[in-house]
Amino acid sequence: MKRGIFISFEGGEGAGKSTQISRLADRLRESGHEVLVTREPGGSPGAEAVRHVLLSGAAEPFGPAMEAVLFAAARSDHVEQVIRPAIARGSIVLCDRFLDSSRVYQGGDARLSPGFMKALERVAINGMMPDLTLILDLEAEQGLARAAARRGDDTPDRYEKETLDIHRARRDAYLAIARAEPERCVVVDAGRDPDSVAADIAAAVEAALAGEGGAVRMEERA
Ligand code: TYD
Repeated sequence: MKRGIFISFEGGEGAGKSTQISRLADRLRESGHEVLVTREPGGSPGAEAVRHVLLSGAAEPFGPAMEAVLFAAARSDHVEQVIRPAIARGSIVLCDRFLDSSRVYQGGDARLSPGFMKALERVAINGMMPDLTLILDLEAEQGLARAAARRGDDTPDRYEKETLDIHRARRDAYLAIARAEPERCVVVDAGRDPDSVAADIAAAVEAALAGEGGAVRMEERA
């Protein structure tokens, strides 16, 4: 049976992930693919319930371990309820943020040990690694300015409100992941006009689709 393909989108605030995901979804559907668009934190009823707790900042007073565990709990539910069944049906899954967001946002907190983060990651994804991760790369200043323009009068969320230095460190952390896992990650310069960004994304996805079937999933639960 034809197996689906799992593509995650990553990047800092204001990188244009949602615009690019919907453009890619349209393009893939036009060429006859079944596409599922989803997002994190959230994407399943259980994970959407946890999303509000995380993004409102309600979990923040309980410390970074609490938040990291909640992201992992939401991810596990999303993987088992939504992503794994869609991949099994042969869909192309486009996910707005996935495990790299936890590596970058929670993993950037020195109070959480790499061992703790690795254990959470293993439980959360249970072998469901993206086949392709598109990292939309943008200078932190530019991303924050775009996010502020999009937000208008709404207050920034728990993560947007952090300092410029933290946003810069996150950008560096994404680029380090891309260097460490070049077979999975493609960095796209998101500082350009949306058409150029979309063209690069389309090329990376075509290449991944051409190589479909080559990817072998390890450690999947039977
Ligand atoms: P969202 O409103 O979906 O924003 P964005 O447009 O930036 O994707 O907010 C998700 C926020 O949650 C974002 O600031 C990153 C953060 N986040 C984590 O800290 N860890 C995670 O594992 C995930 C999935 C998201």
